[in-house]
Amino acid sequence: MKNGIESIFKPHLEPKEVYKGGKNIPASTKKIYKLSSNENPLGASPKALEGMKKAIDLIDIYPDQTDIRLREALANDFDNQLGADQFITGNSGSEIIDMILRAFINDGDEVIFSNPCFLPYSVFSRWYGAKQVDVRLLEPDYALDAEEILSAITAKTKIVFLTSPNNPTGTYIPKAVLEDFLERIPKNILVVFDEVYRHFADAEDYVTALPYVKQGYNILGLNSFSKTYGLAGQRIGYCYTTAKIANYLRLIHKPFLLPLTSIEAAIGALNDKLFVEKTVKTVREGRQYLSDSFAALGIKYWPSQANFFIIDPPLPEMEFTDKLMQEGIMVRPVSQFGAPGKVRITIGDQEANEALVNALKKIKAH
Ligand SMILES: Cc1ncc(COP(=O)(O)O)c(C=O)c1O
Repeated sequence: MKNGIESIFKPHLEPKEVYKGGKNIPASTKKIYKLSSNENPLGASPKALEGMKKAIDLIDIYPDQTDIRLREALANDFDNQLGADQFITGNSGSEIIDMILRAFINDGDEVIFSNPCFLPYSVFSRWYGAKQVDVRLLEPDYALDAEEILSAITAKTKIVFLTSPNNPTGTYIPKAVLEDFLERIPKNILVVFDEVYRHFADAEDYVTALPYVKQGYNILGLNSFSKTYGLAGQRIGYCYTTAKIANYLRLIHKPFLLPLTSIEAAIGALNDKLFVEKTVKTVREGRQYLSDSFAALGIKYWPSQANFFIIDPPLPEMEFTDKLMQEGIMVRPVSQFGAPGKVRITIGDQEANEALVNALKKIKAH
């Protein structure tokens, strides 16, 4: 009976699905290639590490009270097409998702997302009592069902999540689709455009939220330092949007939110153009190599604009994942992300990619 402390627990927080994130490499004497969490195959930006090391000596004092130094560095990284007041920073892209939901969602409001997608959209929105509306991507190509999203909108809809390139499918939203959608969506809804994998995209009609923020649409570009800059362990993210939305979000931005190590790491990473270039080159070359290899091996994969692929594994997904682990390769089944039976594989450096292909050959031969 719920007459104890449970009586004050929020009913919408009853455990259903909890987002745990990908596993770490288990203790092992053998070399393991971690291709399960879409991390940077080159490690972390050296300039970010330099910045962090300097920050360690100042760790006994509070960090910057506001994030203005980092926001100025971000504005500079965007060639001053946006002002520093249009950026909001936080302790990871995931934390920014939470911040947005906290700022906009009241009990009973609706959020729309499109499975297969990043699980925190649904898990975190439940924390605020949101009704979750899943308008699935259209199979077999995992295209956005923009028409169905527009028809699912009600007076209670507050936020629509779009992701491009999308996790876990690697697919993207073409420019014409996004533009038509933004023209037609009611003006009292915020579009959260998750573009944390944007640097890896090279399709001609790939777009970020930037031009639409500049044109004044109610859209927000969600970004992370975990991928391109190799700072997944430090937890840094940001978003940019119109000054009106950013100034509203800033009302819940806590003083001293970012550790000094994060501020210095992020500023260092933004100055490390060479590292970004090398990362993007490694991922795009690896993407070509792996798609050619999947095709040669007869493994069904979806063309990707990100630093990972989903595939239809040649064995049931858990058996396949276990077999690859025995070969020293860690990958991730993604039924939790709304793609039952599929497995997501991060693009590694050439050595890891070759190890993966050899392991796949061995599994296919049995
Ligand atoms: C689509 C998408 N959005 C946001 C994030 C959040 O990244 P982080 O919390 O590491 O900044 C991830 C991480 O994997 C992601 O795949």
